[in-house]
Amino acid sequence: MKVIRTEAEWKPIWTAIFKEDKSLGFVPTMGALHQGHLDLVAKSTAAMDFTVVSIFVNPTQFNSSEDFQKYPQTLEADLALLESAGADFVFVPSVATLYPQPTYLRFDFGNLEQVLEGEFRPGHFNGVGLVVAKLFHIIQPTCAFFGQKDLQQVAVIKRLVQDLSFGLSIEVVPTRREKDGLAMSSRNQRLSPAERQQAVLLYSQLLLAKERLLAGEPWSMVLADTKLAFSTAANCQLEYFALLHPETFKIFDTFRTDRPQSICIAAFVGQVRLIDNLPIIA
Ligand code: PAF
Repeated sequence: MKVIRTEAEWKPIWTAIFKEDKSLGFVPTMGALHQGHLDLVAKSTAAMDFTVVSIFVNPTQFNSSEDFQKYPQTLEADLALLESAGADFVFVPSVATLYPQPTYLRFDFGNLEQVLEGEFRPGHFNGVGLVVAKLFHIIQPTCAFFGQKDLQQVAVIKRLVQDLSFGLSIEVVPTRREKDGLAMSSRNQRLSPAERQQAVLLYSQLLLAKERLLAGEPWSMVLADTKLAFSTAANCQLEYFALLHPETFKIFDTFRTDRPQSICIAAFVGQVRLIDNLPIIA
C-alpha cells in the first residue's frame, strides 16, 4: 500500500492505471476509520482493479472550529487498517494541497441544502461539495463509494456528479451497525460509556417507527411519540425526525405505501451529535 500526499505524486500512478484500462475505486474519508469505512473499501476492492482511499479532515464542512478541532485523528491506526483491508493507495493531502488559496465558489444544492442537515448545519454541504469535487478532479476514479448512513450527503454528491458531469459512478453501501443497532460513526468514540448506552435510542426509535407505520399508524402519532421518548430520555436531545423521499429529500406529512420513503434522525447524546436513517419503503 502506497501513501500519496500530493497531486503530483498521484498523476503518474493514475496514468499507469488508465493506460492499462484498469478500473479505479475511490473511498473518500475523514479518517478515524471503523468497520463501516472498511465495508466501503471491501466493496471497492471486490469490484475494482485498484482502490484508493483518501484521509482528509475537511475544515470547510465543519460548522464550528471546536467540532473540527475535536474530530478524532488516528492516522497511524487508519493506515494499518487500510493495509490489512487491501487498499492499494491512500491519499493524505494537507490543507494547503487541497485549499492553496481561499475558495470563492459556492454550490446551491436547492432543496437538499435547505432541510435537515442543510438547515441545522448551514454551509456544511457546500464544504462537502467543494472537497468531494476537488478529490474527484484529482483522483479521477471509475467509481466512488459512500455510506448510506449519510443519506443526505449521498443525495448531494449524486447531484454534484450529475450537474458537473463527472464521468464516474456512485455506489452506496448499507450502514454498518454495532450489535445493539447503533450506526457506526467516528463520532461514537466521543461518547462516554453511559452516553454510548443511551445512543441506541436513535436506532430503536427508527425501528419502532417503521413497525408502527407499516402497521398502519399515522405518521403524526409516530412523530409525537418519538418526540416524547426523547424528551423523557436522560441526556438525549432530538434535533429532527423526518419522513422523506430518500433521493429528493422532499419531506412528507403522511406515510403512504406507494412511494419510496425513509426516516432520517439527528439527535444529541450529551455533547455528541449523531445521525441515522432507515428506509421504510425502498
Ligand atoms: O463522509 C465523510 O467522511 C466526508 O463528508 C467526506 C465525504 C469524506 C468529505 O469530506
